[in-house]
Amino acid sequence: MNILVINCSPVKNGATAEIVRLVAEYTGKDNTVKTVCIDDYDIKMCRGCRSCHTTAKCIQNDDVTKLMKEYEWADKIVSVSPSYWADIPGQFKVFIDRCTPWCNTHEPHATIPEGKKGYTIALRTGPSMPECERIISSIEHFYGHLEIEASGSLGLCSVEYKEDVEARVDEIKDFCEKIINKEEEIFIELKDTEWPLEYIDHDRQIARAIVFDDDGYFYFVRANRDDDFGKATLIETAGGGVETGEDLHTAIQRELKEELGVDVEIVSKLGVVSDYYNLIHRHNINNYYLCRITRFGEKKLTQEEVEDFKLSTLKLKYEEAVKEYEKCSGTKLGRLVANREFPVLKCAKEIVESL
Ligand SMILES: Cc1cc2nc3c(=O)[nH]c(=O)nc-3n(C[C@H](O)[C@H](O)[C@H](O)COP(=O)(O)O)c2cc1C
Repeated sequence: MNILVINCSPVKNGATAEIVRLVAEYTGKDNTVKTVCIDDYDIKMCRGCRSCHTTAKCIQNDDVTKLMKEYEWADKIVSVSPSYWADIPGQFKVFIDRCTPWCNTHEPHATIPEGKKGYTIALRTGPSMPECERIISSIEHFYGHLEIEASGSLGLCSVEYKEDVEARVDEIKDFCEKIINKEEEIFIELKDTEWPLEYIDHDRQIARAIVFDDDGYFYFVRANRDDDFGKATLIETAGGGVETGEDLHTAIQRELKEELGVDVEIVSKLGVVSDYYNLIHRHNINNYYLCRITRFGEKKLTQEEVEDFKLSTLKLKYEEAVKEYEKCSGTKLGRLVANREFPVLKCAKEIVESL
């Protein structure tokens, strides 16, 4: 696969350049990676003449075509952009303006080959994320009009100099894993077909895991509920709500320690299943991880988990787990849980077998 990593900053040895270098390093195994800096190109400003709307060509002749050749070459494009006055740097904005001949809102327009994926990393000195999101949406807007599929983004706040990047290496590494493995991640959207939809008034970010050991066993929780959802005996993946200020990795490690009493190595992110509990007006965003047990210890269940859900551990071979999900599908809640988890378990089993 060909990967193009673009430094959208004019600074060739700053924080952005350092992130570009790391992305090239982490995506470079088994791929061909090219890095470029916007400052390597002589690009004049768009004159706004609209000639390209009828000719699909610019009246100016400079390095835009040279940079577009790199886009044509790449299967995946990673734009790394700092915030300059809460937006992308002017040099990169000038390049985007000059891509109007390729913009799909007018006919004729020039095209680049189909099927490319675009990723964005935004960084800034200030501490809050919305400014990074603005940069990400500017770049994803640009991707959209070139028919490059926006496939993931990362925002990094509190980064001013090259030295500040060192503390963010894990986040960058994780993001690079996504760039390389994106096709393997699951994304499933489900509806609640058990309870009528009245309204949904809140989202819940949830971290969940398919947990396995080196002897080929998978670990789940058994819950025995008797509440508004009705009487139900469930098999469910361990996991729970992400707490304020927690990232997903920290959340899943904490949940697995509490509910199963295990320490784990996170092997990979399996993907996201979005589903709904209409009864309690909730949208669940389930982030699934594949985790290998590295140590068994004590559980730390909450009072609610012990008294209301009677949570216990289920240690099962794959085929036994499938049967258990089928058995628990006799109740409304059991069916919602099985519909959400079964495809993820199947995918996890294939990965575990390939390890
Ligand atoms: C002209 C200029 C404007 C900037 N504006 C902002 C800003 O609005 N918000 C912010 O958080 N950081 C701002 N920064 C800081 C950069 O986003 C930050 O230092 C980034 O790490 C720069 O990377 P670079 O040196 O690779 O270009 C600005 C930096 C420059 C040079």
